[in-house]
Amino acid sequence: MSSVADLFPPLGLTIEAGPLVLRGISDDVLAELCDLAVGGIHDPAVMPFSVPWTDAPPEQLARNTAAYHWRARAEFRPDAWGLHLAVFHDGQLVGTQAFETSDYLVTRTGETGSWLGRQFHGRGIGTAMRQVVCAFAFDHLGAAAVTSGAFLDNPASLAVSRKLGYRPNGIRRLKRREGELALNQALLLEPQDLVRGPHPLRVSGLAALREAIGLDAA
Ligand SMILES: CC(C)(COP(=O)(O)OP(=O)(O)OC[C@H]1O[C@@H](n2cnc3c(N)ncnc32)[C@H](O)[C@@H]1OP(=O)(O)O)[C@@H](O)C(=O)NCCC(=O)NCCS
Repeated sequence: MSSVADLFPPLGLTIEAGPLVLRGISDDVLAELCDLAVGGIHDPAVMPFSVPWTDAPPEQLARNTAAYHWRARAEFRPDAWGLHLAVFHDGQLVGTQAFETSDYLVTRTGETGSWLGRQFHGRGIGTAMRQVVCAFAFDHLGAAAVTSGAFLDNPASLAVSRKLGYRPNGIRRLKRREGELALNQALLLEPQDLVRGPHPLRVSGLAALREAIGLDAA
């Protein structure tokens, strides 16, 4: 009998690095992740996301967060996919780290995106989890570059990108909240510039993922 990880290989992926574990978001973890989102991701006075999804009232926010991840699973295909990973620190769920791309076999590029529950900010976890996903993309998926973006009023995200070795790659003028223009710093990281974390990666479930995204033949 097939397991859900056979049907959707990201669910079988685990990346360990010291106190961090990143793994595919199963439904039981997803429920906990929705609670974490409802508990707060950022000061409501600011908006770090270009789609202001965290403005939704709590019951909608939980449902929307679940639907977002179910949609990402349903729409995962070799020419457009997103790897959305739950992040655990010392065994505790703290947030998510994503790597999203299209036409990866040609572009060898993907965009990182992440969030942590507010109570976990400022402890170096955001830096460490981004180091993990970038090292994974370069070393295990053969990425040639990783991109990111952060609004100019998001100093924590910009600091993480700077510390990892991303370089500025232009300013985007984006609509953020209704009627609001916000300036977004595009960022680009190449393998030789990555400032790596102290822990080597231990990866399991890689072969099925590489096959699912077309890197290796079935
Ligand atoms: C962005 C985010 C993932 C970073 O994670 P984190 O664990 O808080 O980040 P770290 O602790 O690893 O590093 C944060 C860095 O930002 C710096 N920083 C934080 N607030 C700052 C401020 N107001 N001004 C200047 N620097 C600031 C910290 O000093 C630290 O740098 P340092 O280690 O050189 O001192 C997290 O803050 C978060 O989830 N924010 C809300 C969602 C979000 O913004 N997601 C990204 C969208 S682009």
